[in-house]
Amino acid sequence: MTTGNAWIGERSDDRRPSADLRPDIPHPARIYDYWLGGKDNFPPDRAAAEHAISASPDIPAAARENRAFLQRAVRLCARAGIRQFIDIGSGLPARGNVHEVVHETDPDARVVYIDNDPIVLAHGRALLANNRTTTVLTGDLRDLDELLDRPELRRLIDLSQPVAVLLVAVLHFVSDEEARAAVKAVHSRLAPGSYLLLSHSTFEGNPQRAAEVAKTWDKTDSRIKLRGRAAVAEYFEGWELLEPGVEFVPLWRPDGSTENTTRWMYAGVGRRA
Ligand SMILES: C[S@@+](CC[C@H](N)C(=O)[O-])C[C@H]1O[C@@H](n2cnc3c(N)ncnc32)[C@H](O)[C@@H]1O
Repeated sequence: MTTGNAWIGERSDDRRPSADLRPDIPHPARIYDYWLGGKDNFPPDRAAAEHAISASPDIPAAARENRAFLQRAVRLCARAGIRQFIDIGSGLPARGNVHEVVHETDPDARVVYIDNDPIVLAHGRALLANNRTTTVLTGDLRDLDELLDRPELRRLIDLSQPVAVLLVAVLHFVSDEEARAAVKAVHSRLAPGSYLLLSHSTFEGNPQRAAEVAKTWDKTDSRIKLRGRAAVAEYFEGWELLEPGVEFVPLWRPDGSTENTTRWMYAGVGRRA
């Protein structure tokens, strides 16, 4: 097993979550929910999440800091005038969801959540009942072109106007080619003035512990690929990368609201010129 630029774990290539709830197998969305202190998880999710914590006790802090980055970056876009957001790999509803953050600035701003785990759809529907500006869809970032053409998305999002697309803590679940294809599709389909918000797990801040932490996903339907700063920076090719560039999540424009200690993820925000 290597923590270089190779896959960590031995998994088949194109796994996707089952359409069933399957409380017997851990799900990335529910593992992450556990780290964030949520209640939408089952014993196998908690066992996988605890494996990561025993390998590196700062993992829940890394999840919280990632969430805080997402909120800082979304607020930046909202303040820059963006009124449409597509959050891909959105996860289970947590504190400070994208629609809650953007609606602080404009209650009419529109948000589409997309996740390939149907569990997210079930929870999202309950949260968003009666919300006319926000919706949640089941979809995979590997089908990004098709997703952007879905009528349910187009009902809320006008692609001729700037959009902020979030790929936060999700690209590490797909291969190099799939990740590159997704960011390329985002760039080619969005209007000038659009934003790409991205975070990504890395081995570079914790080279000794990364392989053990990566085993967390062994029993899930997903697999993880930790990447280095250079690989993450390549996703911004063609984008104007905002200061401070690709940086460890808590160091990306810190506002003092989190512990600022973990080095498990990189973050960056790009603007389409
Ligand atoms: C670690 S959570 C991140 C949640 C949220 N983006 C955040 O950063 O707070 C990763 C989410 O990505 C979803 N996911 C994994 N692979 C995906 C794919 N290929 N397409 C869409 N969603 C995916 C998982 O179901 C999970 O909900």
